[in-house]
Formats: sequence, structure tokens, C-alpha cells
Amino acid sequence: MEEIAVPVSARGRLIAALDVPTVADAERLAAALKGEVGVFKIGYQLAFAGGLGLARELAEEGEAVFLDLKLLDIDNTVAKGVESVLGLGARYLTVHGYPHAMRAAAAARGASPLKLIAIGVLTSLDAAELAAAGYDRPIDELIRLRSRAAAAAGFDAVVCAPGEAALVKAVAPSLAAVTPGIRPAGSDRAEQKRAATPADAIRAGADLLVVGRPITGAPDPRSAARAIVDEIAAAGG
Ligand code: C5P
Repeated sequence: MEEIAVPVSARGRLIAALDVPTVADAERLAAALKGEVGVFKIGYQLAFAGGLGLARELAEEGEAVFLDLKLLDIDNTVAKGVESVLGLGARYLTVHGYPHAMRAAAAARGASPLKLIAIGVLTSLDAAELAAAGYDRPIDELIRLRSRAAAAAGFDAVVCAPGEAALVKAVAPSLAAVTPGIRPAGSDRAEQKRAATPADAIRAGADLLVVGRPITGAPDPRSAARAIVDEIAAAGG
């Protein structure tokens, strides 16, 4: 994926998750972060609170919008969902790493510039949580399986923990690694069990970094974003 795989600016690598409760909060946060981050991510919380209109507005202003809707359904429903997303002008969309859903999404994207990103294994899950959900394979094996399937479906990237970026690229070199679970040194890890600092993530091969609470929860989100960009740049990203 051009925007991801070729070297981009350190700022371009930072995806700010607009994980806030209202569109008004998100508008304030986006206004504070414009010019400091490369991409605005809109997930469940904001999308279900009216945030898709903001997604369209940000896209119309030329901002890169990442719709983290983690699609998974029967093929026809996934395809129709992707068709509707095309109308919003978002640059990125996430789909769970199930082969059938990824194939359906890729077919529905057609020749549009929308980049498709597979969810490998949620970075909040550890082996015990996966086993409880019925997945008894080791995490690494599941990531390999889903990365191969994502590449075969024509996807552009995989969401993975920073420590898994090399694993993804070993089996699917065409895929970019999008890594959440980023915690600047000294910050609260919350439930991200496989977390890394921005510098560690870049050194581990991450292409784009998703950061939520370290920015949204900071007293000054713009400064927090700038510090993360500086850390990315200092690590050679
Ligand atoms: O607040 P925090 O930095 O943990 O936010 C991480 C963001 O990345 C959230 O918006 C979350 O939904 C998203 N994400 C994740 N793990 C994945 C995929 C997405 O944490 N595997």
C-alpha cells in the first residue's frame, strides 16, 4: 500500500484514535491534532455516536480517515458494508482476518483507493483469552495464518502487536504492519497486554502506529502527539 509501505514522515505514521464519547469531543480533539498526526481513526465509540458524518467531513477536508469498524459478517453483508464505506471517503477500513470476509471486502472495494486492513489477533488478547474463545493455536500461528490469508485476499495491511510486525512480514512481505498497543514510556498500559513504546514499535518494523488513550487522555493532546512523533522520528521512522 503506497501510503504505508514507502517511507512516510514520522507524523504520517501516527494514527490518532478519536476514541471519545461525542462528535463535539471528537471535533475538538481533531482540531487540536490537525497537522500533528497523519491519520484520524474512528472506531465503535464515535461511529455509534454519530461519528460517520465527522469521518466524511474530515475526509472532505483532505484528512486521512481510518474507519476501525472491524467488519465480520456473511460475504454479502460485508460487501454491501464496504460499498457504503466507499461513499464516506475514508482511506482505511478494518475487517476481521477471516478469509471469506476479506475476500468479500476486497471484491467490493474494486478499484477504489480504499486501503483494507485485516485484524490479525486483537492485541488485548493473550493465549488464555484466545483459548477461552476456542482458539487453541499459539498466537503466532494464528497471526501467520491470518496474514497469509490477508495477502492472498489482496489486503494492504494487518493490525498486529508491535512485537508481531516481523512475523507478519516474514509470511506476507506485501503487507504493512499497523500496530496499536503503543504506550510511551511511563504511561498506563491499561489492557494492552502486548504493548511497546513508539520507538520500540518502529524498531520492530511497524509502519503505522495507532495511539488512543496516551493522546486522548493527555492534558494536552497536541503536545502528547508531538512527543510521540518526535519519538518515532528519533527511532528512524
Ligand atoms: O487507547 P489505546 O491506545 O489502547 O487505543 C488503541 C486503539 O487501537 C483502540 O481504538 C482500539 O480499538 C484499537 N485496536 C487495538 N487492537 C487491535 C485493533 C485495534 O487496540 N488489534
